[in-house]
Amino acid sequence: MKIVTQQILGGPDVLHTAEAPRPEPGPGEVLIALGATSLNSVDRKLRDGTVTHFGAPPFTLGFDISGRVVASGDDAVHPVGSEVFGMAHTATGTYSEFVAAPARALALRPPGLDDLRAAALPTAGLTAWQALDLAAVREGEHVLIHGGSGGVGHLAVQLAVLRGARVTATARTTNSDFLRHLGAGQVIDYTAIAFDEILSEVDVVLDFVGGDYGRRSVSVLAADGRYIGAQAANTPDDPRVRSVTGRPSASMLRRLGELVVEGSVRVHIDRVLPLSDAAQAHAFAENTQLRGKLVLTPWT
Ligand SMILES: NC(=O)c1ccc[n+]([C@@H]2O[C@H](COP(=O)([O-])OP(=O)(O)OC[C@H]3O[C@@H](n4cnc5c(N)ncnc54)[C@H](OP(=O)(O)O)[C@@H]3O)[C@@H](O)[C@H]2O)c1
Repeated sequence: MKIVTQQILGGPDVLHTAEAPRPEPGPGEVLIALGATSLNSVDRKLRDGTVTHFGAPPFTLGFDISGRVVASGDDAVHPVGSEVFGMAHTATGTYSEFVAAPARALALRPPGLDDLRAAALPTAGLTAWQALDLAAVREGEHVLIHGGSGGVGHLAVQLAVLRGARVTATARTTNSDFLRHLGAGQVIDYTAIAFDEILSEVDVVLDFVGGDYGRRSVSVLAADGRYIGAQAANTPDDPRVRSVTGRPSASMLRRLGELVVEGSVRVHIDRVLPLSDAAQAHAFAENTQLRGKLVLTPWT
């Protein structure tokens, strides 16, 4: 089978296609024929060594998967033929024709949800959902979402609105209409306006940007406010500061998929590229202002 792999850490050019043996599903695992995967920011950070939890290369990137079960290990909950999607926490990555993944981490793909949107949802959607849960967002609260037009952010905006929150997003001005259509009541163009100069008494900040946004966001929180960060950020030592790590959850993912099918949540796919162009996809994500998600499909 084909995989995308890298021998060294570095820029997008280190990614290339290679041949590898098809994995065997272990106990509790299923083997999935890839329908689609998607690019997450962490893939780029793993590729260049900004984050290191894959260890040294060679390795294959990718967490998200949508596809069809073609073999099932002992005790695996999804039979052969099931259409599944999820966040496949495997050591082998999802930029691959076939992926062995823990069945319990995967949800059945609801009818009407295509591979592309299903592959765009898991990491971004689960992180957004779990960040809102961690903040215990209540109806009527003011939620500030940094990076609102990104993969995680555009889903977080919509999920916060569904919870009855009043949403302000930071994004560049070209994404302003996009975010208003998704339900944001206010969009702050961070290239022109410093959010901390115009906001105060914010109930919840979901930070999908990091850096000094941490410290600045805590300064605009209400006394009982909550700051949830999803990446490295300079934050003060403050009990209102928490961080989220997106975790697989089949039940949450199934519900997210249903929300997409019923039209309550829109997954915006900026573009679709084949895994044969993985290097180009990473370069594109790095050099352009992506809106929403970039989805990767198998080799043709
Ligand atoms: N902890 C976890 O489990 C977890 C899971 C997923 C993601 N994350 C982290 O969350 C972050 C976002 O991930 P993603 O996949 O959504 O990334 P993404 O798709 O690349 O989106 C990032 C967005 O941030 C916006 N942005 C850039 N600089 C900004 C600024 N100064 N102010 C406001 N917006 C800004 C960009 O929008 P414009 O074009 O409008 O500038 C871009 O759309 C990454 O750091 C990622 O590592 C963490």
